[in-house]
Amino acid sequence: MNEQPPPSAVMTQLLAGFQVSQALYVVAKLGICTMLDDGPLSMADLAQRSGASPQPLGRVIRTLGMLGLFRTTEDGRVETTPLGATLSHNHPQTQANVAEMWMEQQYLPFSDLLHTVRTGEPATEHYLGQPPFDWISADPERAALFARAMADVTGTMRTGLFDGYDLPPGKVVADIGGADGSLLAELFTSHPDRHGIVFDKPAVAPIAAETMITRGLADRVEAVAGDFFTEVPAADVYLLSFVLHDWNDDDAVRILQTIRRSAAPDSRLLVVEGVMPADDTPHPMKLVDLTMLGGTAGRERTADEFTDLLTAGGFHLDRIVPRPSPFSIIEATPL
Ligand SMILES: C[S@@+](CC[C@H](N)C(=O)[O-])C[C@H]1O[C@@H](n2cnc3c(N)ncnc32)[C@H](O)[C@@H]1O
Repeated sequence: MNEQPPPSAVMTQLLAGFQVSQALYVVAKLGICTMLDDGPLSMADLAQRSGASPQPLGRVIRTLGMLGLFRTTEDGRVETTPLGATLSHNHPQTQANVAEMWMEQQYLPFSDLLHTVRTGEPATEHYLGQPPFDWISADPERAALFARAMADVTGTMRTGLFDGYDLPPGKVVADIGGADGSLLAELFTSHPDRHGIVFDKPAVAPIAAETMITRGLADRVEAVAGDFFTEVPAADVYLLSFVLHDWNDDDAVRILQTIRRSAAPDSRLLVVEGVMPADDTPHPMKLVDLTMLGGTAGRERTADEFTDLLTAGGFHLDRIVPRPSPFSIIEATPL
């Protein structure tokens, strides 16, 4: 008989989420799943290679085994399951950088969520004493980890984002707040005729330049450093992916207005975001909205809210193109 656990037991499991997050972080940070790429290893081997203490490591792995990440082979060695393998840095859809970024950059600040709900001030800002993107970009290692985590998201949540998508015409595509440039690189695999710009903060733009060298796109894509509240480069097509959700309405409108000032009348703006249903329908972005609530002053938005935001920023929302992912491409033209 398959009995459901009582609600109180389900509640205990939900409350233990913080322990699971930390355990996942430990194996990601120690590179345990990456070490298991070539096959099973003994616990002693894993401990020795990762520089960890065998007994505590074994207990973490045993718990995560119960949650479906690891299996024990007949001869007592450890191997990853397909789920566990996604914490290998070599996995094509790796989440290892997300694990490291969330636990190192958001976990402690998120402990101030109650403050956010009482006052409206983002937990991260309250905890860190400064806006989160200022804190991230103040340290090159932090900025690089954040950019890698964003690339992990591109590799998973946004898989197939541009498949079969009819990119609006125009020679130059600028990805504003483009992080390490992996999204633009992805788009350009099917658009060999376009030239591009990845625009991001000075701490991040060099990371995008590196990506373009690695992906063989350095002759077509330039990394430009700047501030999207001040000025962005001129382009035919603007890509604004996962940026507006970081900001409150006033700041999001300021970003759109900056783009509007650089845009030609026939430029196009493509906003890549999750569009939340206005009703109670479940949607993955509702969980992301919690990340935004604690982590930034931003929020996920409904179609009506995007229409209002774009109008205030000087754009007309032309259409929302749903994609085979939680994300949509919101097409807009200058008003
Ligand atoms: C959530 S990330 C999105 C990255 C990328 N577009 C993606 O879809 O994965 C937001 C990006 O905005 C950048 N950013 C934040 N403030 C900025 C500013 N004032 N000017 C330019 N870029 C900024 C951050 O450095 C970060 O790379």
